[in-house]
Amino acid sequence: SRPLSVGVAGLGTVGAGVLKLLRENAGIVTARAGRPIAVTAVSARDRTRDRGVDLGGLRWYEDAVALAADPGVDVIVELIGGANGPARQLVQAGLAAGKPVVTANKALLAVHGAALGAQAEQAGVTLAFEAAVAGGIPVIKALREGLAGNRISKVAGILNGTCNYILTVMRERGREFAEVLAEAQKLGYAEADPSFDIDGVDAAHKLAILAALAFGRPVAFDEVHVEGIRHVSALDIAFARELGYRIKLLGLARRTEAGIAARVHPCMVPEAAPIARVDGVFNAVVAEGDFVGRIMLEGRGAGAGPTASAVVADLIDIARGRSTPVWGAASGHLSDAPSVPIGAHVGCYYLRL
Ligand code: HSE
Repeated sequence: SRPLSVGVAGLGTVGAGVLKLLRENAGIVTARAGRPIAVTAVSARDRTRDRGVDLGGLRWYEDAVALAADPGVDVIVELIGGANGPARQLVQAGLAAGKPVVTANKALLAVHGAALGAQAEQAGVTLAFEAAVAGGIPVIKALREGLAGNRISKVAGILNGTCNYILTVMRERGREFAEVLAEAQKLGYAEADPSFDIDGVDAAHKLAILAALAFGRPVAFDEVHVEGIRHVSALDIAFARELGYRIKLLGLARRTEAGIAARVHPCMVPEAAPIARVDGVFNAVVAEGDFVGRIMLEGRGAGAGPTASAVVADLIDIARGRSTPVWGAASGHLSDAPSVPIGAHVGCYYLRL
């Protein structure tokens, strides 16, 4: 049957990864989607840069928002990034044009997710974002669909690959934060503004999205208490190690009697805890539900391949006509639980996971 025609905005590592996956796994994707999925239009600033994929025959737009008006584009993939600006305009324009939108943009969803979700649902159009949290780990599907029968009490995890890499290298080689940061940036997983990684902002964006799915109410990014890893020294890590702990930057959202408590900060995790062993650019997400108990998902949280894998999963759902309410339970049943403020900075916390 007729191919699903995709317009991709943003041709960085992830955009190129999506093109590559759709070509290399075309047979598998077509079989699972019930029809071919093909990128036909793109938007990126630099037309000449070599991205390692053939861009011949694609329609090019300087202005990302113009993709939404291309009558040959059925679905928009937004990989520009940033909570505002062209990314937000494109997502709004795509939904307004009645086109499903797939985005990897955690900042956009953490800040404007409730409004965009409402726009999508009013328009009856899919807004999908598996790639926005924990890269290739299918954590959005797991929380929204796989655990849909549970009352979730906790969702937590290692949500930033750059920080986890830095903390891992500091522990394994006794090196200082500032030395390892530059190395982590070279890996290409860091945000455009790397302070988003090391100050915990990126992890907080992702936690706000997970908490909204887990607790059935939009959780705004500014409800999350945030501390990063700038102040963690090699000595802190060595002391923690002597006591049998590892220091991890964790995001944690819990349902408490008083409301929802969401926080991101460095934690002392006992070495025997499975999450303590998640090293390098890997991410992990732990969730606790009243019937399922505890689950943990682990995998690559950043990079071309894992993120493209998540984007294509969303495209296959769209090609198949499968759709779920944008925020799952948040759209129907809802708690109006307030958010609980978290106390002042105490440096490093002990956490039992
Ligand atoms: N900067 C992010 C990280 C990329 O390091 O995890 C994936 O969202």
